[in-house]
Amino acid sequence: MERGVVVSTSKAPARIAGMFDSIAHRYDRLNHLLSVGLDRRWRARAVRELALTGTEDVLDMCTGTADLAVEALTSPAGRARDVVGVDFAGEMLRLGLVKIRKAGLADRIHLVRGDATRVPLPDARFDAAMVAFGIRNVLEPAHAIREFARVLRPGARLAVLEFGFPRIPGITAAYRWYFKSLLPRVGRLISKHGDAYSYLPASVEQFPSPEAFASLLTQNGFASVRTVSLTFGIVYLYVATKAR
Ligand SMILES: C[S@@+](CC[C@H](N)C(=O)[O-])C[C@H]1O[C@@H](n2cnc3c(N)ncnc32)[C@H](O)[C@@H]1O
Repeated sequence: MERGVVVSTSKAPARIAGMFDSIAHRYDRLNHLLSVGLDRRWRARAVRELALTGTEDVLDMCTGTADLAVEALTSPAGRARDVVGVDFAGEMLRLGLVKIRKAGLADRIHLVRGDATRVPLPDARFDAAMVAFGIRNVLEPAHAIREFARVLRPGARLAVLEFGFPRIPGITAAYRWYFKSLLPRVGRLISKHGDAYSYLPASVEQFPSPEAFASLLTQNGFASVRTVSLTFGIVYLYVATKAR
């Protein structure tokens, strides 16, 4: 972490929603810049793992500006029939809607304002679900996982993308310097937000290890969890099946 900077990692919903609302206008640009474009590949991989066939209704939790939702409807590897994107940050959703309209997908992506721990949708509504870089921000991730299990039909797939830390000697130190020192500075400069990009590495540090998160999935309604390390473990993809 930057020396002398104290970062709050409070996950209070109003704080998290407010933070994303205030960086929303720079969110996509910073994502692509700070990940040198890899974020698109990570989302594409998550959608591929859902093995979509054109008949699925898919939930995109913590949809933000809807990049993952759009990927699920445009992926050359297989597409959803419809996507419902849920998020509690109104400005992220507003910009997501602009993007969806521009892409001509307004009749197939529906955005809903709501909280991951109290999803305002019926039981067994979806054939697949996904969340990219959202679960780390949820106050009680186990509740969100139980909500995923509730809204999925038995046997349906869930794909979760979340940041991790590489465990490869040599890469670990360099990445930690980038993620905890350089990224917060660049993020602050471009987003003009005081601590959103310091919160990012701090929240990743607090997030359960890949092994612990995989256990959380199996303890809360999912079976056959597969953990895939992407880009040296900078990101992990968890693919799980709703228990029957
Ligand atoms: C880092 S962004 C990820 C957005 C998008 N999934 C992507 O891949 O770019 C995290 C998003 O999660 C949303 N979020 C965080 N906690 C949430 C919760 N408890 N309920 C609903 N949305 C939440 C935030 O508002 C924000 O839009």
